Amino acid sequence: MVKQTVLIAGLGLIGGSLALSIKEIKGIRLIGYDADRHALEYSKMNGIVDDIYYQFDKAVLEADICIFATPVSKTVDLIHQLNELTLEKELLLSDVGSVKSLIMNTAEKITSDKVTFIGGHPMAGSHKRGIQSAKAHLFENAIYVLTPTKKSTAEDMEKLKALLTPTKAKFLILDAKEHDEMTSVISHFPHLVASSLVHQAREWQKIHPYIPKLAAGGFRDITRIASSNPSMWKDIFFQNRDKMSRLLADWIEEMKKLKDLIDSGEKTQIQTYLEQAKDYRDGLDSKKKGAILSYYDLYVDIFDQPGALLKVVHLLAEHDISINNIEILEIREGITGVLRLSFQNKNDQQISQAILSKNNYETMIEE
Ligand SMILES: NC(=O)c1ccc[n+]([C@@H]2O[C@H](COP(=O)([O-])OP(=O)(O)OC[C@H]3O[C@@H](n4cnc5c(N)ncnc54)[C@H](O)[C@@H]3O)[C@@H](O)[C@H]2O)c1
Repeated sequence: MVKQTVLIAGLGLIGGSLALSIKEIKGIRLIGYDADRHALEYSKMNGIVDDIYYQFDKAVLEADICIFATPVSKTVDLIHQLNELTLEKELLLSDVGSVKSLIMNTAEKITSDKVTFIGGHPMAGSHKRGIQSAKAHLFENAIYVLTPTKKSTAEDMEKLKALLTPTKAKFLILDAKEHDEMTSVISHFPHLVASSLVHQAREWQKIHPYIPKLAAGGFRDITRIASSNPSMWKDIFFQNRDKMSRLLADWIEEMKKLKDLIDSGEKTQIQTYLEQAKDYRDGLDSKKKGAILSYYDLYVDIFDQPGALLKVVHLLAEHDISINNIEILEIREGITGVLRLSFQNKNDQQISQAILSKNNYETMIEE
C-alpha cells in the first residue's frame, strides 16, 4: 500500500510537536522542511520525521497533506511560492498560525484546482521555541480551531481531523474574523499589556532598585506571558494590528475612566468594578459553566524548604499520577506557599487530594 506523505513545513515548537503526535499514525510517511538546517537535522536524527528536505518545492511536491508551522508572515510567503508550482496530485493544506485572516485571504487566492486549504490554530504553546522544546502531548485537551475555505468540503475536514486526532485536541470550527477577534481579546492584547507592565516595573526600578526582589506571585503571574518568543509575537501583533489598535483605544478609554474614579476617591465604584471583574474571572475557571476549558486543579500548602516540591511530586509519581502543570503561587522566604497542581481529569485530582491529605498536606479544590 502506498503510504500517505505528510509534510510539516516549519519544524519548531508547534511543527515539531505536531510531528511527534502525527508520528503515532501507522501508514504515514512524515517529512519535514525548515529554513534552519539545524532544526531539520535535529528532527531527522531524533526520529521526529522520516525524511527531511532542504527545499520547500521538492518537499511539497511529494506531499498529500502539508501543514505550515512557520511564522505567520512566512506561511503567507510559502503559500505564494506553492502557487507558482505545477502540482501533479491532490494536496490538502493547513497551517497553525495564531492569526487567521491574512493566511485565509492568501489561501483563497490559490489557483491550482488540486489544492484545498483549511486553516488551523492549535491553541496551546509554551514560552519556549524551537524543535528541542517540542512535545507530543502539547495539544492534549487544547482547543484546535479549524477554518474552512470556500473550496474545502466536509470530507476534507474529516481527513484533516483524522490526521490531527493523535494530538488529543478538541476541534472548534470558526471563521477567520471571529477567530482573530476572540484571540485578540483573550490572547494577543493581554500579551501587550503584560509586556507594558514589565516595562513599567523596569522604569520604576530606576528609583527603587529593590523592585525585582519584591516582584513575587501576582506580578509574576500576570506578566508570565511577556517571556514568550518576541519575534513570533511581533508577527502576531502586526498581522492582527487593526484589532490590536481597536483594543488599545478601548483600553486607554477604560484606563482614563479608572483614573478618574481613583482621583476622585470613588471607593464604591472601584469596589463594584473589582467585584464584577472577580465574578467574571471566577466564572471562567468553573468547569460547571464550561466557559473555558480548564484543568482540574488542586491547591497544596507547602513550606519553603529544600525538597518540598520534590516530596509532593514523588508521592504522586509513586501512584502513577501524571501532573499536567505545576505552579508555585505566593511563596515567600520561610513561610508556607501554595502549589497549584493541574490534572487532566477529575479522578486524578481527587486521588491526588486523598494521597496528599493522608500524608498530612493541607489541600483544597475550588468548587
Ligand atoms: N508558540 C505558541 O505558543 C504558538 C501556539 C499556537 C500557534 N503558534 C503558531 O505556530 C507558528 C510557529 O510558531 P512556533 O512557536 O513553533 O515558533 P518556532 O520559532 O519554535 O518555530 C518556527 C519554525 O519555523 C522555521 N521557519 C522560519 N521561517 C521559515 C521559512 N521561511 N521557511 C521554513 N521554515 C521557516 C524556523 O526555523 C522554526 O524552526 C506560528 O505561526 C505561530 O503563530 C504558536
